[in-house]
Amino acid sequence: MIHAEILGIGSYAPEAVMSNVDLEKIVETSDEWIQSRTGIVNRHISEGENTSDLSVKAALAALKDAGMEAEELDMILLATTSPDHLSPSTAALVQKKIGAKNAVAMDVSAGCTGFIYLLDLARNLIASGSYQKILVIGAEVLSKHIDWTDRNTCILFGDGAGAAIISKSERNGIQDTNIYTDGDMNDLIVIPTKSVKNPLGAIEAEYHALAMKGQDVFKFATKVVTKSLKEIMKAHELTNDDIRWVVPHQANKRIIDFAASKLKMDPEKFYMNLDEYGNTSAASIPLALSEMKQKGLLVKGDKILLVGFGAGLTWGTALIEW
Ligand code: UT7
Repeated sequence: MIHAEILGIGSYAPEAVMSNVDLEKIVETSDEWIQSRTGIVNRHISEGENTSDLSVKAALAALKDAGMEAEELDMILLATTSPDHLSPSTAALVQKKIGAKNAVAMDVSAGCTGFIYLLDLARNLIASGSYQKILVIGAEVLSKHIDWTDRNTCILFGDGAGAAIISKSERNGIQDTNIYTDGDMNDLIVIPTKSVKNPLGAIEAEYHALAMKGQDVFKFATKVVTKSLKEIMKAHELTNDDIRWVVPHQANKRIIDFAASKLKMDPEKFYMNLDEYGNTSAASIPLALSEMKQKGLLVKGDKILLVGFGAGLTWGTALIEW
């Protein structure tokens, strides 16, 4: 079996910060409501940089962390729900901008679970022997798809990017990945595009922004986060004491607290930075990992669980030995 590990990690968030108090001036909401219902205080919002721009900054930081040049990459996988264009892929733009001329590049759409999907793909592609050094990026500029008059959604999301270099290795660093889809619930989080418009078709529908059935997603998230973490721990015969960190998708502090309590795990083991970044969708997990590395929180040999959930609906877990 050919193993894979995370060789380097990096992240970037736009400089401009929008606080809950700023949002009070835009929609009928309050800092108190947002903090108590979600745990979010601030979010970073792009003032013009697109998803590929954020991705490039995160990718260059990850390459530097890995001590690698862009030409060494043989693949770029980018997870986003807010690509620069419908076509070409945002990954192709990143390939050009960082000069990764030997890398094949493509996007993956798996909502907020995107980064875990990429880890699964990268690990399996490396195990197949076809690829050796894969840049994986989770990046979003969701602010461009938000209806800034909809208080149900505009308070939740932020912009950001996180990237990791996944390399063939002697070490079994990425020990397991599991990804899932339930298309029956595809209508719970939707960012629509244009409707069919041709001489044979009906009237063009107007463009709508991101729409989410928040309570249904909340119920789904609490269920799958707990269930899938239990399953991966059982499969590897791990107890709570064996786990140093759980890095969950940063959607809502209440979802994370619920999982910690159901698993009877110390909530301090669940890393959270959603107070500063809000929900950055596919970027949230690598953004958190990168911040943890910068803070010196990741120690070689630590066992880390990642868990994500989002549009699709999708969900997934990963077990990493740092
Ligand atoms: O990353 C993708 C995955 N996404 C998620 O995981 C999101 C999961 N869902 C959630 O995190 C939560 O459902 C939300 C944070 C989106 C909403 O929290 P909630 O506790 O489920 O609130 P709710 O939708 O049940 O709304 C409760 C009340 C309603 O008023 P009434 O009908 O009780 O009078 C809403 O109109 O709060 C009202 N409300 C607000 N009030 C102030 C909704 N949004 C706001 C707001 N400020 N921004």
